[in-house]
Amino acid sequence: MNPVAHEGAQMKPVAQKSAQMRHHAPQDAQMSLVAAHGVAVTAGGRRILHDIDFNIDRGEIVMIVGPNGSGKTTLLRALLGVLRPSHGQITRARGLQVGYVPQRLHLDPGLPLPVARFLSLPRRRTRTDIAETLARVGVPGVAGQDMGTLSGGQFQRVLLARALMGRPDLLMLDEPTAGLDQPGVASFYRLIEQVRAELGCAVLAVSHDLHVVMSASDRVVCINGHICCEGAPHAVRNAPEYRALFGLGTGGALALFQHQHDHDHDHAEKTHQDDPA
Ligand SMILES: Nc1ncnc2c1ncn2[C@@H]1O[C@H](COP(=O)(O)OP(=O)(O)OP(=O)(O)O)[C@@H](O)[C@H]1O
Ligand SMILES: [Mg+2]
Repeated sequence: MNPVAHEGAQMKPVAQKSAQMRHHAPQDAQMSLVAAHGVAVTAGGRRILHDIDFNIDRGEIVMIVGPNGSGKTTLLRALLGVLRPSHGQITRARGLQVGYVPQRLHLDPGLPLPVARFLSLPRRRTRTDIAETLARVGVPGVAGQDMGTLSGGQFQRVLLARALMGRPDLLMLDEPTAGLDQPGVASFYRLIEQVRAELGCAVLAVSHDLHVVMSASDRVVCINGHICCEGAPHAVRNAPEYRALFGLGTGGALALFQHQHDHDHDHAEKTHQDDPA
């Protein structure tokens, strides 16, 4: 079952809502942005997900963690409406705008594709909009650069910029920091928190970066075909279901990342000083 979620008020997720909510947000303030009730998903004759009860509210940062093949991407695609559940229901707030960064994006390396053009697909965007969004995600100078020439960190930020172009109420990010080094990952999640604070959007992200996930999120949902445990990061960390899946080894790394380092050099030094090993 789900003992962590039943521990009462301590486990209740706390959404930090921004004061600067945008006006075109979905109408019903009481309603979750997306909610799944008793959802199961079957693919290729196999049951991938079952008994999923999940919701995300305005302004929350929720992280989904789980082993490879546990159904994280499948859950995101079902919440997006790309996959139809075999059981249960998914409801979305009226007028919901979602910005999605898929786990994989294949771009033809032989095809020159300037960043500004990429951000204008499929919908044309103004130059000002593009410049503002690139500045917001910390890569102001890359509009004219080819997508194929970006560094890993720049590429991920451009993907985030693309997801932000539609002024989403909800950002869904499927392993947005894959391939980044630890300082890159930490800096990306700081950016996510900043974007949430500025735009008031909710963020639902899949991640394997457990240590960063734990410090950057309001709520963590641990899945393995079903929801194993969920709640505030500190509570999930101590849940037996979580420990069974991920072991006990993340505690030290977690402590490190909770130091809230301001820059990469500082981060690297801290890692050495504090490493108990
Ligand atoms: N269309 C499909 N047909 C058959 N099996 C599928 C299909 N889509 C997903 N699966 C299977 O469902 C399981 C969950 O896949 P999913 O991509 O959701 O996992 P994940 O948790 O995102 O994994 P990863 O961490 O590797 O990205 C896997 O075993 C996968 O092979
Ligand atoms: Mg996946």
